[in-house]
Amino acid sequence: MKIARITGFGCYVPDKVLTNQDLEQMVDTNDEWIVSRTGIQERHISSQEQASSDLALISATNALNDAGLCADDIDLIVVGTTSPDMLFPSTGCILQAKLGVPTTAVCLDVSAACSGMMYALEVANNMLRAGAYRKALVVGVDTLTKFSDFTDRNTCILFGDGAATFVLEMDTDKDGFDVVGLKLSSDGNCADLLKIPGCGSRNPASQDVIDKRLQYITMDGQAVYKHAVNSMSGISKAVLEESGLGLDDISLLIPHQANIRIIKSVGKKLKLSSDKVFINLEKYGNTSSASVGIALREAFDTNRIKHGDNIVMTTFGAGFTTAGGVLRYIKN
Ligand SMILES: CC(C)(COP(=O)(O)OP(=O)(O)OC[C@H]1O[C@@H](n2cnc3c(N)ncnc32)[C@H](O)[C@@H]1OP(=O)(O)O)[C@@H](O)C(=O)NCCC(=O)NCCS
Repeated sequence: MKIARITGFGCYVPDKVLTNQDLEQMVDTNDEWIVSRTGIQERHISSQEQASSDLALISATNALNDAGLCADDIDLIVVGTTSPDMLFPSTGCILQAKLGVPTTAVCLDVSAACSGMMYALEVANNMLRAGAYRKALVVGVDTLTKFSDFTDRNTCILFGDGAATFVLEMDTDKDGFDVVGLKLSSDGNCADLLKIPGCGSRNPASQDVIDKRLQYITMDGQAVYKHAVNSMSGISKAVLEESGLGLDDISLLIPHQANIRIIKSVGKKLKLSSDKVFINLEKYGNTSSASVGIALREAFDTNRIKHGDNIVMTTFGAGFTTAGGVLRYIKN
């Protein structure tokens, strides 16, 4: 079967920065605790006026420019997000209108929390390879600070906002990342361990929901931690094997940026030296679906990727959802 290629990629984080020192003024925490337990120093947060589609719009515009395309060229938008502008319409449709993508295009959202961008990539990749679409925008965007309880020190220190977009094309000789392999898995038995319980159909918005603070993220941090390490290392090995590659073939690992200790444990399980594990969470915190897209852009911009490199991306999120992907960079 033919392989699709990422021919352009862009990202965006809001201007406003929330530092650990700022959080010290809000909850009973301190910079030393946050840095030593998570690696995070600061994160970017969206303004009251900025919704996920606003962040996605800037990242998508950057990605289109990078690919040398315009909105007219796009026939598919898949947005991975769990903080959509609203329950419906989809953020994909809202983004379509903002960008001016033709109404002949198909636009949809995929809900896989922090694995959102990888799940969206799998959906778009298969729709392109099946032959019905030619040029897709794959977006990972989340504004989880809007769903973070800034009275709960267990969770509010972790998240930041951001967006990333890939342009995915078939039959192209442009420079880019070939999607060599993708593998996903889901475990709904763990749904309760990381969730936003309120404001869906289970607990519709009400004063009671607000009083119980159910509109915010709740998490069993230690359980999430353990599953994240095992899932991301396991799926990375599996997708490499399915791609006919081994651990020695990894040029750079781009893991979901949730916690530096999780990332280092995954690197250790994959027997990778630290220079082969990309980390930028100190500046952004956990940007959920956007995290690996932002990291790929930054790894590229800092000359960490060269022709022929095999990049392994791996994510973990609420669901639980796990993803692994092998991308190979091709420069003509
Ligand atoms: C959340 C996380 C950083 C907590 O780290 P931990 O080492 O497991 O810490 P614990 O939960 O055991 O808490 C240790 C202590 O620090 C305290 N603590 C928790 N948050 C704190 C904070 N922000 N500042 C200071 N102290 C804090 C706890 O109350 C606890 O105190 P106690 O021992 O008196 O009860 C860690 O479990 C984690 O990163 N989990 C994964 C979360 C994640 O990535 N979620 C998104 C996945 S996509």
